[in-house]
Amino acid sequence: MNIQIPRGTQDILPGDVEIWQYIEETAKKVCERYNYQEIRTPIFEHTELFQRGVGDTTDIVQKEMYTFTDRGERSLTLRPEGTAGVVRAFVEHKLFGQPSQPTKLFYTGPMFRYERPQAGRMRQFVQFGVEALGSADPAIDAEVLSLVMRIYKELGVSNLKLVINSLGDTESRTAHRDALMNHFKPRIDEFCTDCQSRLEKNPLRILDCKKDAKHPLMGTAPSILEYLNEESSQYFEQVKAYLDAIELPYEVDPTLVRGLDYYNHTAFELMAEGDGFGAITTLCGGGRYNGLVESLGGPSTPGIGFAFSIERLIMALKGQNQLPNVTNQIDCYLVALGESAKPKTFALLDQLRANGLKAEKDYLDRKMKAQFKAADRLKARFTAILGEEELEKKVINVKDMETGEQKQVELDSFVTYIENQIKGGN
Ligand code: HAM
Repeated sequence: MNIQIPRGTQDILPGDVEIWQYIEETAKKVCERYNYQEIRTPIFEHTELFQRGVGDTTDIVQKEMYTFTDRGERSLTLRPEGTAGVVRAFVEHKLFGQPSQPTKLFYTGPMFRYERPQAGRMRQFVQFGVEALGSADPAIDAEVLSLVMRIYKELGVSNLKLVINSLGDTESRTAHRDALMNHFKPRIDEFCTDCQSRLEKNPLRILDCKKDAKHPLMGTAPSILEYLNEESSQYFEQVKAYLDAIELPYEVDPTLVRGLDYYNHTAFELMAEGDGFGAITTLCGGGRYNGLVESLGGPSTPGIGFAFSIERLIMALKGQNQLPNVTNQIDCYLVALGESAKPKTFALLDQLRANGLKAEKDYLDRKMKAQFKAADRLKARFTAILGEEELEKKVINVKDMETGEQKQVELDSFVTYIENQIKGGN
């Protein structure tokens, strides 16, 4: 029996992996411009981190986590998202005590959620995310949004809609929560069992329910924006003013709630507009989480961040015909003619590589014609042929594969010749 890949996961093969590398590189470079530094945290964490961090009433914690007991009887979970782990590391390593604040971090890596797989919804997916910890300045909210939009822009994704909302501070949220409870309570028996249990624990989650999305009470539910206290609505106004200052277009959607519990104040999602997207339109999500550091044992510290999956980004790129053409081209393919030329050819190959050039030779004992074909397939810029005669004369034949021009080069200067041709851009 053949063993197949688990559902909801994928292999990224050579040819596609270059697209991933290009996306990751582009995103990293943008982060560096905004002065964000990379952090790497473990792929599994104590289950409690996500229960406390992401929230007990969320779908992620209730239904989607890959949780297991290890041989030491500890409950561990494959991370379903990156924020909780980054905040744990921030607390554990006392990054809040370091002189340069706020702490601005980015990360990329696999996340795991037991979801029903479909296009753009995987069980293992790769998130690229950013977290800025230690500043409650509304300008940081705008910076984070500017950063993510810049990544998409540099990758050539257009037709994006930035949707923002404010979930307010604790006081505003409590007032809104009470209003939501009063709104849903009289007819809660018409909702699914999940929503019924959410009513007391976290009625905001009801708004996020996929099963009951069409219930008439959903459309008339009280909006958080009506319950924002003075401080929260001022904060939201300032965030919007900063977005206006950098001319970043956005739409305010008071029904945007997000699927994780740690958010307050600014919440946002980036939606893909246009065809070819099926049910999945959210490319990226994020927001402010001012209480999370404290709830994970650190000092009271504000935070904000976002994450997007590379899988959905690639869907957007594909949908808009913007997939980069990242062909792998080698600099020189070496062909040996005759047994005696083989060791020298191998030595030249090694020297080319030692000098930073991409070089390859035949390892299947193919005929010369087939070797030329292989060079073509690898899109070799030059092909160099060393025969017994050339070896004696201490020369090598070099063919420029772009112009078709052939040239005899001294063996001693061959590596420098190729290097100059490639690096000199000739
Ligand atoms: P999230 O909305 O759960 O937020 O996920 C963020 C993004 O991850 C989504 O917009 C989507 O691009 C991608 N994503 C989520 N689930 C899947 C899946 N099953 N398959 C493919 N892509 C997926 C968070 O994870 C927060 N940690 C974001 C954040 C960072 N908030 C503050 N800081």
